[in-house]
Amino acid sequence: MSGPYRERIGTLAERPEPFIPVPGKRSGAGDLPGAWDGWLERASGGETAHPMTDAAVLTEGLERSFGSKMAVAGVDLSVDPGEIYGFLGPNGAGKSTMVRMLCTLLRPTGGRAHVAGYDVGREAEEVRLRIGVALQDAALDDKQTGRELLRLQGRLYGLRRRQIDRRVADLAELVDIGDALDDRVATYSGGMKRRLDLAAALVHNPTVLFLDEPTTGLDPVSRSKVWDEVRRLNAELGMTIFLTTQYLEEADQLAGRVGIISGGRLVAEGTPDHLKRSIGEDLVVIEVAGDPAVAAQVVGNVTGVSSVSFSNRAVTARTADGAATVAPVAVALSGAGVGVRNLTLRTPTLDDVFLELTGNRIEEDA
Ligand SMILES: Nc1ncnc2c1ncn2[C@@H]1O[C@H](COP(=O)(O)OP(=O)(O)OP(=O)(O)O)[C@@H](O)[C@H]1O
Ligand SMILES: [Mg+2]
Repeated sequence: MSGPYRERIGTLAERPEPFIPVPGKRSGAGDLPGAWDGWLERASGGETAHPMTDAAVLTEGLERSFGSKMAVAGVDLSVDPGEIYGFLGPNGAGKSTMVRMLCTLLRPTGGRAHVAGYDVGREAEEVRLRIGVALQDAALDDKQTGRELLRLQGRLYGLRRRQIDRRVADLAELVDIGDALDDRVATYSGGMKRRLDLAAALVHNPTVLFLDEPTTGLDPVSRSKVWDEVRRLNAELGMTIFLTTQYLEEADQLAGRVGIISGGRLVAEGTPDHLKRSIGEDLVVIEVAGDPAVAAQVVGNVTGVSSVSFSNRAVTARTADGAATVAPVAVALSGAGVGVRNLTLRTPTLDDVFLELTGNRIEEDA
């Protein structure tokens, strides 16, 4: 932990004292979401627990069903302390359900999960003390100011008034909302709301931070700001970060390791490079004017093309030597009377990995 950022955030690195909230000091706790009700008392009254594992997140056969729908269908994963782990999947894949279980907001219907070493079911209070969460739909009160929200959060964690003041100032600078701190949340842009929610999740200096689609709906500038904060929290405070995303680029750029989830199952896991290398070959992507099924057949017969797939508009051919295959593909299509709108040669992306594993693309237009 060093560098200008570490100095700038000052107190953030030190865990506040008293860290376990004091029973009875529940001013403002009436605003807690239901699932948190009463946790302060339980957290400070229980026996001293000991972490069961060194892993920051560890799940075994973790499941959650809603009626007959299996939202998370048996997930095994292990995230080391200090990792940025990207949980990548399309709409409805089970990302939020997974996060809500890991954050003790939703009971698993099968399997086990430990977060920061503690069981999310039996030791939920221990887990809650050690995690920060920014959910997909930040439930911020429009009538509060940013400062009020952060102060409330500090009180909920049992921080003293002076600690709260210092921390609010540090956090506001950290997420770059200093100027707007005393404005009502209603006046914040989408990106500012996300960053305020992130600051609120950091008040008690969690060891594991969960971010559910932290940049969905943000413009590119706001997105890269959030990415920068995530990188800094990880690099300079050593915070473990578990983030879900449906953006390939986000997983690729930000995560040390990526787990790809589809239909509630983890279908692949590894570093972005490792996952992309598993596709192994060059890709020739052809946007055609006519029927892609016909074009795919033509391309599939070209020497050097090892396999071919197609979606609404584009045909994708895999080949060991892209440079040598582009011209024959173009000639074959022209010979068959298929119009070509665009032809590109590229290396695999995480979307190609997803396509290979599931038959679908994450990003429809990728
Ligand atoms: N409370 C619920 N009741 C019934 N079904 C649910 C509930 N919550 C989630 N599901 C279903 O579980 C599946 C996974 O949902 P989940 O919200 O975890 O997906 P997601 O990957 O977070 O999607 P998105 O990218 O759209 O946020 C979906 O089919 C969803 O409809
Ligand atoms: Mg979700």
